[in-house]
Amino acid sequence: MKLAILGTGFISRFYAESLIAQRRKDVVTMIYGRNKDKARKFAEDYKIPNYSTNLKEAIAHKDVDAVVIGLPNDLHLEAVLACAESKKHPLCTKPLGRNAKEALEMLKAVDKAGIVGGYLEDLCYTPKFLKSLASIQSGAIGEVIWAKSRETHPGPHSEWFWNKDKAGGGAIVDLGCHCIEISRNFIGKDIRPTEVMCWADTRVHPIDAEDNAVALVKYANGAIGQFEVSWSFRGGMDLRDEVMGTEGTIWANNFLRTGFEMFTTGKSGSYVAEKAESSSGWLFPVGDEVHELGYSHMFTDMFESIDKGKQPAETFYDGYIVNAIIDAAYKSAKTKQWEPVIIEDWRGSDEVKIKHELPSYDKEHYLIKEETLPSGEKKTIVKNKKTGSIEKR
Ligand SMILES: NC(=O)c1ccc[n+]([C@@H]2O[C@H](COP(=O)([O-])OP(=O)(O)OC[C@H]3O[C@@H](n4cnc5c(N)ncnc54)[C@H](O)[C@@H]3O)[C@@H](O)[C@H]2O)c1
Repeated sequence: MKLAILGTGFISRFYAESLIAQRRKDVVTMIYGRNKDKARKFAEDYKIPNYSTNLKEAIAHKDVDAVVIGLPNDLHLEAVLACAESKKHPLCTKPLGRNAKEALEMLKAVDKAGIVGGYLEDLCYTPKFLKSLASIQSGAIGEVIWAKSRETHPGPHSEWFWNKDKAGGGAIVDLGCHCIEISRNFIGKDIRPTEVMCWADTRVHPIDAEDNAVALVKYANGAIGQFEVSWSFRGGMDLRDEVMGTEGTIWANNFLRTGFEMFTTGKSGSYVAEKAESSSGWLFPVGDEVHELGYSHMFTDMFESIDKGKQPAETFYDGYIVNAIIDAAYKSAKTKQWEPVIIEDWRGSDEVKIKHELPSYDKEHYLIKEETLPSGEKKTIVKNKKTGSIEKR
């Protein structure tokens, strides 16, 4: 695969580390940046043979098959439309659009051009996520009742994120997009997200957009996805997932407490981890950020899928559904009501999933709870199927 990267900022360097530093057979042949010096420096740093300050020319270049889009949110649509025009596969960072309207336009453009639209949702490719998903899909935790995902940090590193119009919102569109897609995978992508209840507020920063939010996303089978996001959390980047199923539980701490702790007086002042607020004292570094944040598995899936003519695990369609949920969250934050998730192009199932069967104790009773107490006494609580009375056995 011959690749162009669009953008020379923060995420493009992460992508380059994953694509080039790991000596893949896929090669980056082009880097686009609007600033010539930065584009040339990026090309030198990663030994990329071509650089350009012209977006369309970079995409259309003969040595480019697929395009990795690492530009600010307001430029994703323009970049994707240019890819569709040149029939180059766009692989776009998150969020796909600033809203569902933009995302749908991108989805339609790739469908029409017959190219693969890959959604670069790295947190759905971390080793811990992949293992959790495989366990859930094999039935290890039963039916998922509630899937919570949290991303909080002290706020983004570039000015455009803080501009509501350019970014499409604040912490919800920036961080909530990850959490929504993580929960949606765990609950089941085939199940329709139906409505959202959201609290959002601007508590700390002098901005128009929200810097803190919590929301519940309801799914057609009764499951709840929950996201918690903040741009004012102190202490680094907190990425945590919790899944509650009828037969089990998953807790994953993806970044702050991964089991690696280090103390330093801070004399070297060296890099610790993304959004770390300190480089001295007890620190929580991340062994291999590129791998642990999912970039390696993500690109492998993208390129294998394009090679085989199939869809990757995370597509533009997924990005569109995420944007539709975010739109409902913003609406709910204003109206303070549950708001419907409006999906014009739903491709999942519309069969209403029947909730799991109630556990039976015997012919006449359902089992509610069994527990052994500290005294050794075993308690069994049942419900009479006919009368509804709750009894102790
Ligand atoms: N985990 C992730 O997947 C992740 C993490 C960080 C950022 N992102 C996403 O990556 C995208 C870029 O974010 P970033 O953190 O790299 O931002 P950044 O500000 O570090 O880099 C943005 C790049 O775009 C360039 N740029 C800005 N305005 C431009 C314009 N008008 N025309 C052409 N180029 C322009 C900048 O010069 C810079 O090279 C965003 O969509 C963001 O949400 C994803």
